[in-house]
Amino acid sequence: MTEHEIKIRFKEYASIDELSSDEKTLCLEAVKALKNSHSPYSKFKVGVAMSLQSGKILYASNQENAAYPSGLCAERVGLFYWGANHPDDPIETMAITAHSDEFQLSKPVTSCGACLQVIAEYEKKQESAIKMLLYCQGGPVWAVTGIESFLPFLFFEGRLNQKQ
Ligand code: THU
Repeated sequence: MTEHEIKIRFKEYASIDELSSDEKTLCLEAVKALKNSHSPYSKFKVGVAMSLQSGKILYASNQENAAYPSGLCAERVGLFYWGANHPDDPIETMAITAHSDEFQLSKPVTSCGACLQVIAEYEKKQESAIKMLLYCQGGPVWAVTGIESFLPFLFFEGRLNQKQ
């Protein structure tokens, strides 16, 4: 038996004021994206702002549905929009924030496994890592570059290689 250990590293900034001015701006753009969150069921808004290599910023928010599983997280709303519209303009940074009048948010929101898997797919597709800024309004920002820190056992397309 061999026991393995995987360590992950991420940076914590005490507030957005410790970020570079571009990163701070992107976090504040993610706050603006909260406005279009459609979350009458969970009452938990998630906003995303993604900066592309060209300088363009894409916005996304979670979109829920009365048939609950038909809704989608903010991250995947943004990522699929990018894949459908700007696949040749790599995503450099993705800022994510959340707001709820009903739930306490003292730490940044971390993406669900399904969203991490989609981020992994597009990092491979665009052949570059994405910087994630997880921003808790009035609190810390967690930063990580490259999805493998969050999802070390991600499913990758090599698993789909057919037997010869
Ligand atoms: N949600 C996101 O949009 N992103 C996350 O990272 C976590 C959860 C959404 C899904 C649902 O609309 C609401 O937050 C509560 O789970």
